[in-house]
Amino acid sequence: MAKKSKNTFYITTPIYYVNDVPHIGHAYTTIIADAISRYKKLLGKDVFFLTGTDEHGQKVEKAAQEKGLKPIELADQVVVRFQELWKALNIDYDFFIRTTQPIHEENIQKIFKKLKDKGDIYKGIYEGWYCDSTEHFLDEDVPLEEGGFKICPECGTKAFIVSEECYFFKLSAYQKPLLDFYAQKPTFVRPRSRMNEVVSFVKQGLKDISITRTTVEWGVPVPDDPKHTIYVWFDALHNYVTGIGYDWDRPHFEKFWPADVHLIGKDILRFHAIFWPAFLMASGFPLPQTVFGHGWWLKDEAKMSKSKGNVLDPHLILETFGPDPLRYFLLREIPIGLDGNFSHEGFIHRVNSDLANDLGNLVQRTLTMVHSYFGGKIEEMDKEEKADKALREEFENSKEKIIRFYEDYALNRALEEIWFFISTVNKYLADNEPWKLARDESQKKRLGRILYQAAAALRVISYLLFPVIPVSSEKIWDFLGEEKSIEDESLSELKFKNLKLGQAMKEPKPLFPRVALKDFLKEEETRQAPPKKEEKMDMITFDEFKRMDLRVGEILTAEKVEGTDKLVKMEVDIGTEKRAMVAGVADVYSPEELAGKKVIVIVNLKPAVIRGIESRGMLLAAEIEGKAIIPFFDKDVPAGAKVR
Ligand code: MSP
Repeated sequence: MAKKSKNTFYITTPIYYVNDVPHIGHAYTTIIADAISRYKKLLGKDVFFLTGTDEHGQKVEKAAQEKGLKPIELADQVVVRFQELWKALNIDYDFFIRTTQPIHEENIQKIFKKLKDKGDIYKGIYEGWYCDSTEHFLDEDVPLEEGGFKICPECGTKAFIVSEECYFFKLSAYQKPLLDFYAQKPTFVRPRSRMNEVVSFVKQGLKDISITRTTVEWGVPVPDDPKHTIYVWFDALHNYVTGIGYDWDRPHFEKFWPADVHLIGKDILRFHAIFWPAFLMASGFPLPQTVFGHGWWLKDEAKMSKSKGNVLDPHLILETFGPDPLRYFLLREIPIGLDGNFSHEGFIHRVNSDLANDLGNLVQRTLTMVHSYFGGKIEEMDKEEKADKALREEFENSKEKIIRFYEDYALNRALEEIWFFISTVNKYLADNEPWKLARDESQKKRLGRILYQAAAALRVISYLLFPVIPVSSEKIWDFLGEEKSIEDESLSELKFKNLKLGQAMKEPKPLFPRVALKDFLKEEETRQAPPKKEEKMDMITFDEFKRMDLRVGEILTAEKVEGTDKLVKMEVDIGTEKRAMVAGVADVYSPEELAGKKVIVIVNLKPAVIRGIESRGMLLAAEIEGKAIIPFFDKDVPAGAKVR
């Protein structure tokens, strides 16, 4: 492969599962990537920023089944939610990859075949403890619980034994090459502490990994052996190469590969720091520069989860404040590697104090004075005095530091440094009291210098802040009468004197809304309660309803599906025939309790294969906190009776 030019920069986010709609945690990864990407563009780099969705696999298959949708229908719906959120957050990505795109699927098959022909992928039998929810086989060292089962260390749910014919990837062959690579490039995984974790894990030895499933239908079929589908992580990780043109636009691929940084959450580090470079070595591709594992956002000190009901939906914040305050808060509050706690108090406090007070007031004060004292145009001014020069030099020093922090992906430190400078400018105005000089006509040129210095400071600040709060920076440019685009002012050339004397400046409007915490919380409360009822209903016509064939079914026999907690296999008489069905109700009802009961069944739902059993129909039930409660009849009804 041709060597990639130093002037290009390739950054990625993880591709998000489409089993559920996005929340603030997902937004965080994408905002970091967007800020870094905008920063690199400001430096004049040729940047490619890839994001997208991970649409195959059991998780999505299951979520779709629960919603009565085909996996692709669910994916189509959720993808729109992601894309809308990225738009609302002003995310400027270059390409959005979906793993269901034919170009991706074809190339996954191509890569699979290449590795198989090469001997890095081979067929065998796998038996191991498998976690349904995180879709992976547990490491062998996960201990057995009392009762003889294993618990997935990542999600805490019960795993079960799966034995299947599958294709393996020869990960064991890459233990030494991986360790050599880590030793050569200790900055491959960041933060550094996570690199150490990875190295010690690999040192303990690597086993070959199973990279196909026969139990999952919703996946890319193995070439020439389609009863196997390719494991979702093999499929997903390769988005980073298929998304930039492998193997459909070679020049584009070669221009950007290898990635400069893969941004990910710490929970998916092993996949990216071990599997991914091993897959790439097998394919003979150069390896990425950095995998950066960021921390988690907690809500009120607890991990966000649907069952706790503390998942943060960013929409109200975005409607109230626009994208910049949320972007600023998430990036300012914590270093990228650590966990953070999201509280509305913390958020509102930062917005009011840093954005509205410090930055917003500086903009307001400076430009209002330029307007009232100079009609919007400073045409003349004195030479720099000591204090003016000190302010400019302070900026030059800060700029160096800020660029260093940005380069190091220490976005919170860069922002901290920018705010030091903002307070220096505020102090400069307070010390030089332009409002007093304005009373004396003979001081006009001195006054001009002070306001020029403040406006020039504002201008450079707006460039330095552009990666994080682009909408506000553009507003500041507009107020300042800057006819620029970011291409015109590379960060390294950023200087006070680039503000043209005589430039026509506008009267400013407030940059950030000042919102009282209590008003915001009140609004949020009204939005959230009652949780589901206020959601916009998706209305269907009576004809659409009639298409559902609902009938009384009599459960003839019921037994638990071995190795699962919740599943019950039943034989159900629907009047015209007897059918096998599988339902997730064993945590509420015992099989004995179910046998003989009459229930409501939808009989014209497409059959689904659940744990290898074809379920031909579905029981209706109320879902209460993840448990299915079945409605039974209080009068006798015959099996097969229509339900409307
Ligand atoms: N589909 C896989 C990634 C495949 S990449 C080849 C996946 N998807 S995910 O939707 O579950 O998560 C995507 C990202 O969101 C992960 O980086 C994860 O760490 C991040 N976050 C999800 N919840 C989060 C928080 N509460 N806080 C911060 N980020 C978290 O994993």
